[in-house]
Amino acid sequence: MKHITCIEDLRLLHKQRVPKAFFDYADRGSYAEETLRANREDLAQIKFRQRILVDVSKRSLSTTILGEPAAMPLILAPVGLLGMQHGDGEIYACRAAQAAGIPFTQSTMSICSIEDIAAAVDKPFWFQLYVMKDRGFIKALTERAIAAKCSALVLTVDLQVNGQRHQDIKNGMTVPPEWSLSKLIDFATKPAWVAGVLRGKRKTFGNLAGHMKGIDNITALATWISSQFDTTLSWKDLDWIRSIWPGKLVLKGILDVEDAEIAAKIGAQALVVSNHGGRQLDGAPSSIEVLPEIVDAVGSKMEIMFDGGIRSGQDVMRALALGAKSCMIGRAYAYGLGAAGEAGVAKAIDIIGNELLTTMGLCGINTIAEINDDALAV
Ligand SMILES: Cc1cc2nc3c(=O)[nH]c(=O)nc-3n(C[C@H](O)[C@H](O)[C@H](O)COP(=O)(O)O)c2cc1C
Repeated sequence: MKHITCIEDLRLLHKQRVPKAFFDYADRGSYAEETLRANREDLAQIKFRQRILVDVSKRSLSTTILGEPAAMPLILAPVGLLGMQHGDGEIYACRAAQAAGIPFTQSTMSICSIEDIAAAVDKPFWFQLYVMKDRGFIKALTERAIAAKCSALVLTVDLQVNGQRHQDIKNGMTVPPEWSLSKLIDFATKPAWVAGVLRGKRKTFGNLAGHMKGIDNITALATWISSQFDTTLSWKDLDWIRSIWPGKLVLKGILDVEDAEIAAKIGAQALVVSNHGGRQLDGAPSSIEVLPEIVDAVGSKMEIMFDGGIRSGQDVMRALALGAKSCMIGRAYAYGLGAAGEAGVAKAIDIIGNELLTTMGLCGINTIAEINDDALAV
């Protein structure tokens, strides 16, 4: 992997090694992809102040996330279907995160189950919850996360209705999938991927399989899931979530100051400023555009995390300078996983950490706590 120097290299390798339908599932966004593009473009507009002749020999990335020590201000975001980017993908991503000293968040929509991951790693991970209509099932799922000693619940609040990704439909990632000759040829040209997925523990959504009688394939499960997203979900349900999850709670998918203010009142420890990586409301602002106003409104009351468009340590530095305490990455590590499994995820984390450390040095900054908007050129 010595020729891999940046996240884009991992992305290109992912594209080569994983069938098109799964690469596009990770890479693309909803509708016209305006918000997907805005996430990247708005980050790139933010310029740093280059500072010189400051002693930067004692730089450190270490920080705390939700009160726990972390090697750097980075979290692996919940990403559905990781086990289809690489067999047992959730386990490999979690191992890479834990080896690097940062949190991993398991998606509700994982291929490996909560128990599969818990059995394969030795430290707690975070669990991401989508609230579905079947509240008995959601309670049971939460109890499984408690039993597995998950150390935070990330409640995703921006997916009550599903944004459409055109490319998933064109690729036959729909229900039912369209099996075409081109798809079979694509699979046949990715033997390492096929072998990895075949060796993997599961081929369906591990957290949901077994819950619905007679539903044991990914297509039927996906149909069930899309019928299960609960459009009645409202702030009132947060009391119920609080009653079934006594631990640390993170609300993910907040983009509006009014919503952030309500979130601060319900006693969540943290929120993630996020537009789901441009996969939901197309035409929503980029996450970085709204970050400063959310930090101003509630940053003193709760921990502000950020995601959307992070592809480098420079991007992490930009978000921290605008008030985020840590950043989640989604695609950046999914590319690593598709490119080279656990080593690829480790590489993605390493690349971003090294870029952040260098950027701090060139801005005359030694610690994560010192990063603020002083680091930015106006
Ligand atoms: C392939 C893919 C699947 C995702 N699945 C989930 C999910 O199951 N739950 C969730 O809360 N967010 C999900 N997200 C959103 C990510 O958690 C995160 O918000 C987003 O990827 C951040 O943007 P970035 O990819 O530009 O880093 C997914 C994102 C991607 C790319």
